[in-house]
Parts: sequence; C-alpha cells; structure tokens
Amino acid sequence: MKPTVLLTHPLPPDWIASLASRVNLIAGPDETFGGWAANLLASLPRADGILSLLTARVDASLLEKTPRLRVVSNMAVGVDNIDVAACTKRGIPVGNTPGAMTDATADLTMSLMLAAARRLPEAARDAREGRWRTWSPTGWLGADLRGATLGILGLGKIGRAVAGRARGFGLRLVYWNPARSPESEALTGARYVSFDELLSVSDFVSLHCPLNESTRGLIGESALRKMKPTAILVNAARGPVVDTDALVRALTEGWIASAALDVTDPEPLPPSHALYALPNCLILPHIGSATHGTRKRMAEMACENLLAGLEGRRLPNCVNGEVYQDRAG
Ligand code: DGY
Repeated sequence: MKPTVLLTHPLPPDWIASLASRVNLIAGPDETFGGWAANLLASLPRADGILSLLTARVDASLLEKTPRLRVVSNMAVGVDNIDVAACTKRGIPVGNTPGAMTDATADLTMSLMLAAARRLPEAARDAREGRWRTWSPTGWLGADLRGATLGILGLGKIGRAVAGRARGFGLRLVYWNPARSPESEALTGARYVSFDELLSVSDFVSLHCPLNESTRGLIGESALRKMKPTAILVNAARGPVVDTDALVRALTEGWIASAALDVTDPEPLPPSHALYALPNCLILPHIGSATHGTRKRMAEMACENLLAGLEGRRLPNCVNGEVYQDRAG
C-alpha cells in the first residue's frame, strides 16, 4: 500500500512529480488559516508523512494525532513553524530546503534596500497620482549606498549572499552572529562587531537570522533606539525577530528613517495595520523566495526529504540529525 502524505497547500504537479506514483497525496485547499483544513485534520491518524509549508504549524498537539508519522518535510529553510523538539522526541526526522532560496532572497533583500534608500514606493505613487510636476532638484532625495555601512545580523548562507551583492554597490560591511565566523569574514570581508556596535554604526541593518527563542523580539525598542535616526531596517528573515509595536513607534517618532519588510508579525499583516499608513515603511507579502526556479527547487528538495523519510533513508537535509544517532544507539 502506498504511504499517505498530507500536503498542507496544493503545489503545481510538475514541482511534486516525484511523488505522483509513490504516495497517496491528500492536499489541503488553497487558503487555510494555520495550514490545517478539515480534510487534513481528518486524515492525521493515517498520515505517514507531512509535506508542510511555513504557514502550517506542526506542534506537539498535532503530532499526538499522528501515530503513524515517519517524516515531516518543510518546504522552507526556516522550521520555526515546527516543534522540532517534539518531533525528535518521537524519532521523526524533519527536513528543510537550505540553499534553494539563497540567491532569490539575497536579490530581494537588495531590492528592499534600494527601494527604501531611494524611496521608490513614494516616488512611484507621486508620479502615478499627479505630483510629478517638474524635475525637482530637491525632490525624492534618498540615501547613497556607496560608502554607507551595511550591518548584517546573521552571516549565514543568505547573509553572505547579501554581502557579496552589497560589496558590488560599494557598501562597507559589518556583521554580528552569536558566534564569530572567521570563514565568513574571509569570504565576505565583513568586520565582526558587537550587536550594539552594529546597530549604532550601520546605515542599513539587514536581518538574516533564524527565528528561535533567542532571536524573537531581538529588534525591540532598546535595539531600535540604538540605531541611527537616518538608518534603514531591512527584514527578509522572519517577522517576529522585530517587535512590531516598537517598530511602529520607531518609524512614527523618527528613531530610525525607514523600514523595508518582506516579513511581518503577524503574517499576513491585516490591511488596517498601522504600518501600512506610514510612508516610510515598505511592506511585501513574504516573497523572498518567490521566483519560478526557486520555488520549484524548494518543492523538489522537500519531496526528496519526504521520500527519504518514508523509505527509511536519511533525509538529504535534516534539521534534527539526532534522530539517527538515537536509532544507531
Ligand atoms: C524560507 O524558506 O524559510 C523562506 O522564508 C521561504 O521564503
């Protein structure tokens, strides 16, 4: 009998072609809050595998309803939607898709940085709405990139890809990671500084850390107040790394100049949210990895992890390798 796999959101058939003849796939509908539609919830007791998107929470209470579950494969590099510790306790490997979205996310980060620095949303809106009356020598002035300092919070794969692009724009680079990385420094030329120094010297602060208990709310009031009043905050990582209420105040009261966000807390950000009313805040709907090639590759990697888990092989990309040590022991 084919294993049963729950897919929390439909995906194009050619992205998941490798599953076609090998699993019995039960997909959720297009838009379900929290990722778990009624048909998926009803199928939890017979699920051998879960192929989840980042919008679906896989927590301990959900896992309790899955006695047969052998693998959770997330179509994302971030796994903050999954209770990995609870999976590990059950010996369930969790897969993710590192690397697939590195270039696309780094490209989008540069787009955010440039759009905020050169005030593209305001300028485009003014042109469209008839406020472009002449070539104004003082109109729509923005920030220079060449010679400015970019502070990268989290110099992992995506942070390094951003560093490479930023160097081409003439930015000076500093970074902060919980642990210093001489290898990343050698690759990027970024200078290691303390968290506080990064905030106080950077003209752009770009976030590239995972969301976990030590990064949740990392950019709150105290951090925002340490930034330059001319600084631009860029977030293409995870919304909850920034304290949203503190950011609204920072942008309203001028603690920083502007923010460009691909991710927010909550997601989706409701249309009535105060952030949308601020002309110095650019908000995108979490599209860092949204290119044809990237999303297809992410889906293919998620399928590779899923099939490996179902067949009892080690997942090519596993975030809780401990489950294999436990098996060996
Ligand atoms: C990820 O893979 O975690 C990204 O946020 C998806 O765009």
